[in-house]
Amino acid sequence: MSDADRIRALLDKPEFPRSAAYEPRWLLENSMGPNPVWLTEWLCEVMELESGMRVLDLGCGKAISSVFLAKEFDVSVYACDLWIGPDNNWRRAQEAGAAERVTPLRAEAHALPFASGFFDAVISIDAYHYFGTDQLYLGYLASFVRPGGRIGVALPSLLEELDEPPAHLLEPQANGKVFWESELWSLQSPAAWRRRWERCGQVELERVDTQAEGWRHWRDHELASELAGTSPFPSDAEALERDAGRTIGFVRAVARRNQAEAMNTNDPSLGVRFGIDV
Ligand SMILES: C[S@@+](CC[C@H](N)C(=O)[O-])C[C@H]1O[C@@H](n2cnc3c(N)ncnc32)[C@H](O)[C@@H]1O
Repeated sequence: MSDADRIRALLDKPEFPRSAAYEPRWLLENSMGPNPVWLTEWLCEVMELESGMRVLDLGCGKAISSVFLAKEFDVSVYACDLWIGPDNNWRRAQEAGAAERVTPLRAEAHALPFASGFFDAVISIDAYHYFGTDQLYLGYLASFVRPGGRIGVALPSLLEELDEPPAHLLEPQANGKVFWESELWSLQSPAAWRRRWERCGQVELERVDTQAEGWRHWRDHELASELAGTSPFPSDAEALERDAGRTIGFVRAVARRNQAEAMNTNDPSLGVRFGIDV
């Protein structure tokens, strides 16, 4: 079997039929995490996107989730990212034939340049843990969503609360890479996301669940990236195999914006309320 055939076999997932229409090389070269298009398809199973909706893709990276949303659901996507600039993502959207419906922007998640209630939906793929672990963040993000609109995230997850990193994830893999890094403490368990989102007054939590066989999908994506030579990092496939879904997987969460007033807690002019001249 050629490498191209092995890559195709690794990425062949009946669970993600829409993703199967996209070129493996394009998916691998433009993934910054474990297959954003698979995660987007999984999230959209429970998000009800309708043609013409305005959708924020927050932390879109190379915007392939944005292209996927535009093409599969005919929505207008604002593809926002901090590290990847709009020139890069605009070129990719054009090449993918999605330029009419993808607007790329560089934006910091705590200083979003949009009007209140502007979006019908917000999604975030493999990015929310970079900025959303602060209890105040979801209320801030909700301020950009119309009442009744949805916020959905899909991202890597601890499957249970941990006090210590598991020993098997601290052992070096054959390639020398140790899976567990201190940054992994930013991954939350489904229970932790549930608690945080349930306590947010601006949304009603609809769902928090984990992906069946998520670790296998992640492992297969690692193996395919390694074969294709597209990842800047050594593969984590061996550690994921060792873990076999005991500790690491994917979580998705979906909430609906309610009518409660949302305060933009990141608005510097809030100082005015304290009598400070801003
Ligand atoms: C692991 S990458 C995932 C990118 C893409 N969603 C994917 O799955 O390929 C995390 C992304 O989060 C974005 N990000 C991190 N912190 C951010 C912030 N404060 N504001 C906006 N984006 C942020 C980064 O720019 C990066 O592209």
